[in-house]
Amino acid sequence: MLSDYRLFLRQYLRHFHHTGAVAPSSRWLAAALARYVGGDGPPRRVLEVGPGTGAVTRQIVARLGRSDRFDLVELNAQFAERLRQRFAHEPGFAEVAARTRVFQHAVEELPGEQPYDVIVSGLPLNNFSVADVEQILAVFRRLLTPGGTLSFFEYIGVRPARAFISGRGERERLRGVGRVLAERLKHEEFHRERIWPNLPPAYVHHLRSPGA
Ligand SMILES: C[S@@+](CC[C@H](N)C(=O)[O-])C[C@H]1O[C@@H](n2cnc3c(N)ncnc32)[C@H](O)[C@@H]1O
Repeated sequence: MLSDYRLFLRQYLRHFHHTGAVAPSSRWLAAALARYVGGDGPPRRVLEVGPGTGAVTRQIVARLGRSDRFDLVELNAQFAERLRQRFAHEPGFAEVAARTRVFQHAVEELPGEQPYDVIVSGLPLNNFSVADVEQILAVFRRLLTPGGTLSFFEYIGVRPARAFISGRGERERLRGVGRVLAERLKHEEFHRERIWPNLPPAYVHHLRSPGA
């Protein structure tokens, strides 16, 4: 646990842009992100994007149905290695290892059309350019089956706070990211949660893909 915090902080200092947080998500934020994993019904295919050290993964594996399949895609090689170790050895993780795959590359490189019923994303979208956020949302749409669920978070108030202390270029980028996200949320969000016990507090957005 402590070693996860150390690893996370080291990666944040080295790769701020892609890591986007100083510490793993709290267990309350992680549980909210995993809310639509599992349940009754046919086997489902679940993708976690940007799992980091596995704070949200822990909640996902606890909720997976007996025949659900689980993929993880993580850009950072050290995080991916940490996750592989957890699936090899750690109780809770090891039980689902046979139906789990950990990919170490960007989510944009995942192939296929609509292979997943549920996507849970930990990506720090507010760090990315407007074009990158548009591309990632398009990738989520390509990967998600019609009627599938996408859950992701953003820190409450961080975009306006960063815009307030930034120069013009950064302000415009943050406004652009806000616009792109708001447009998608307007059409597809069916549930929003406010999670106070997290540093900083966060919104969790749950979206349903159109066309079911
Ligand atoms: C804010 S951290 C979230 C970590 C973890 N989900 C949690 O809540 O503690 C963002 C994670 O996304 C990963 N990441 C960033 N860009 C990515 C991309 N394009 N594809 C896959 N993973 C990415 C980072 O390496 C990092 O592990």
